[in-house]
Amino acid sequence: MFQAVTKTLSVTSTSPVCRGILLGIRHYCKKTPTKLRVSEALSGADLGANVKVQGWVRSVRPQKANVFLHVNDGSSLQPLQVITGAELSDPSLTFGSAVEVTGILKKSPHKKQPVELEADQINVIGECNPVDFPFKIKERHGLEYIRQFPHLRCRTNAFSSLLRIRSEATTAIHSYFKENDFVQIHTPIITSNDCEGAGELFQVEPSGPDIVEDEYFFSVPTFLTVSGQLHLEVISGAFSRVYTFGPTFRAENSQSRRHLAEFYMVEAEISFTQSIEDLTKVMEDMFKSATEHVLAHCVEDVDLFHKHVTPGHRIEGLKFYILSTLRITYTEAVDILNRSSEKFTFPTDWGCDLKTEHEKYLVKHCGNTPVFVTDYPYDLKPFYARDNQDHPEPIAAILDLLVPGVGELCGGSLREERLDLLSARLEEYLDLRRFGSVPHGGFGLGFERYLQCILGVDNIKDVIPFPRFSHSCLL
Ligand code: 4AD
Repeated sequence: MFQAVTKTLSVTSTSPVCRGILLGIRHYCKKTPTKLRVSEALSGADLGANVKVQGWVRSVRPQKANVFLHVNDGSSLQPLQVITGAELSDPSLTFGSAVEVTGILKKSPHKKQPVELEADQINVIGECNPVDFPFKIKERHGLEYIRQFPHLRCRTNAFSSLLRIRSEATTAIHSYFKENDFVQIHTPIITSNDCEGAGELFQVEPSGPDIVEDEYFFSVPTFLTVSGQLHLEVISGAFSRVYTFGPTFRAENSQSRRHLAEFYMVEAEISFTQSIEDLTKVMEDMFKSATEHVLAHCVEDVDLFHKHVTPGHRIEGLKFYILSTLRITYTEAVDILNRSSEKFTFPTDWGCDLKTEHEKYLVKHCGNTPVFVTDYPYDLKPFYARDNQDHPEPIAAILDLLVPGVGELCGGSLREERLDLLSARLEEYLDLRRFGSVPHGGFGLGFERYLQCILGVDNIKDVIPFPRFSHSCLL
């Protein structure tokens, strides 16, 4: 993908810095420089070594005798400061250009950075015209502005922080399940079921000149998955703890700040449980351990978000989310809504679904902390939810986790394992209940909503590398 090397700028003068560099490299000049990532260079482990760093220029500051560059390669929020003689300054060495820098790694005299690279050679690998480049050197661009450039926004500090946090959170979620003896199942993307029964499906059929029209490729209509739950339930007939974490698709014609057409969902299924407590424990523990991992590994990136992108959010606030969760029933939630003086757009009668405005109000009412809402009316939720026959009303053993800033983060339930109660429902679901059926339950967590929650990001399109939503242009 790299273009051919366009320019090599080498030290020829004997300015103080360059003399220093020339002296410095004598010891190393016969050795091939060690290739380091910016994060490795910043660690200081290679002080005094002849090194090569490749990356993109984040700033250029020419001074009388020297030029200072900041170079970043995505491995850390901090850039590496490169210092070189003014004679290496060249018009092609601009903000945004891709460079390969060779020189000696030195301890920096400045407090802000531990090390700096005294360069004796800079190759401009890919030029970048700063006039046409949509990001400007000293400006802090808002999320909405950078969203217009999905092919370039990874070059901004905010989005590169987001991508590192997303990657760490993914690792953390897999680690949580591994440490707790869950088996990861790769559930299919192409399926014939509409697990949620909401009809928000993308149909899948081949296209091309040799396709026979009016004939299904798989003999039945097929769709992109809306949830891996039913496949997890199949496997949970032999494995008591399973999970999946993958892309999920919903053809929601929604321009909302919480919905995407393609998003990532973490789903878990636990066998031999008749207790909603078992599900809340896994949800809580997963949320807590993922967030602790992100804070331990990306605290600078989270800090950048909280300081410059979503002011008002604090790491202390996040720690508070981790510590305390509340639990209320759907009936209590409806009472709280009906007692409030807030004017809601949607009705709040018993039996009505909770909308985002209600969810956000409930979270606020409960002290801006995550809240589990349990025991929803049966008719509001999908067919698979277990009928909670202890209640006089038609209530299902369902729980949603609502979180600050986002509303619903997770949806889960105990599943209806009783054949007689299910028989009036979906035919295909029945065979799963005929052979050694056990009480079980599970949940799904929207990964982008999790990132929105911990970073305080208002629009879901800003926490996924390439957002897909209705009427969007795709990259
Ligand atoms: O509540 P949902 O629809 O639950 C299910 O799909 C269950 N089958 C999961 C299970 O029990 N295994 O979706 C789960 C979560 C929601 O709470 C929300 O966070 C997220 O997925 N979600 C979306 N995120 C982004 N865009 C959308 N269009 C989403 N729809 C749901």
